[in-house]
Amino acid sequence: MFKIENHYNLRGMVAIITGAGNGIGKASALMLARAGANVICADLNKLDADNTAIEARGEGVKALGIKCDVTSEKELTNLVKETLKEMGRINILVNNAGGGGGGKEHFLDLSKEYIQKIYELNLFSIFTLSKLCVPHMIAGEYGSIVNISSMSSMMQTHNMSVYGSSKAALNQLTKYMSVDLGPNIRVNAIAPGAIKTKALASVLTPELEKQMLKNTPLKVLGEPEDIALTVLFLASPLSKWITGQIISVNGGGEQSLEN
Ligand SMILES: NC(=O)c1ccc[n+]([C@@H]2O[C@H](COP(=O)([O-])OP(=O)(O)OC[C@H]3O[C@@H](n4cnc5c(N)ncnc54)[C@H](O)[C@@H]3O)[C@@H](O)[C@H]2O)c1
Repeated sequence: MFKIENHYNLRGMVAIITGAGNGIGKASALMLARAGANVICADLNKLDADNTAIEARGEGVKALGIKCDVTSEKELTNLVKETLKEMGRINILVNNAGGGGGGKEHFLDLSKEYIQKIYELNLFSIFTLSKLCVPHMIAGEYGSIVNISSMSSMMQTHNMSVYGSSKAALNQLTKYMSVDLGPNIRVNAIAPGAIKTKALASVLTPELEKQMLKNTPLKVLGEPEDIALTVLFLASPLSKWITGQIISVNGGGEQSLEN
């Protein structure tokens, strides 16, 4: 008999979420925990990672905070080692940690060091961590990778060239990974519009919000849970015949950082 709950019940599965200390990563870790997954909350900030793990344990699952800078290969290797030691398997990877942009990247002002730093964070870390996790997903007979991209990967606005191009590369990487890693592992990405997190708060003004809402059919900015629900959809068997897709979650519009 078809039971809808079997399609989002993640009990017994293990998920790693990067950047899980705040915002979209935190909401995603908690959403996967609510669906029954044991979660590894990885973040640059150990205290924030631990706090997310404490909240996740309140959902009745195993959860652990791990300090991990995704731009360090050594720390990523340690993350996978610790996950296997504590949880025994890896089934779901949410590549969420990322940053840059903020409308502060005028093409003519970019240094090579800055470009490299943002590409390390938004793109190269995903190659490294995914490669480390894939053999364990195959061994565990269930694998879903969810990459957190951005609407800026598809837009043309001022001062976003490094962030936007790194996320565009992530979209294309998602598609190529899905081909190489099928049929064992599904790989999808989410392109969020403006989501009310600390990262957005650092650049959002009331005027800018008004402008964003003008271009948003659903007339509100996104909440971290809006992305987390899509993470749950893509991580779980609800989306079992979906791979290689970039799903825009953006209230139906484009929220630009320019007035
Ligand atoms: N908020 C938005 O409007 C928005 C829109 C589009 C895409 N995104 C993407 O969503 C993702 C999460 O963004 P957010 O808004 O939730 O950010 P946030 O600033 O609220 O949280 C980011 C978390 O990631 C952690 N982090 C930062 N660098 C890290 C690193 N090198 N290694 C490990 N952890 C690190 C931070 O400590 C923090 O806990 C990013 O990839 C971002 O590009 C956000």
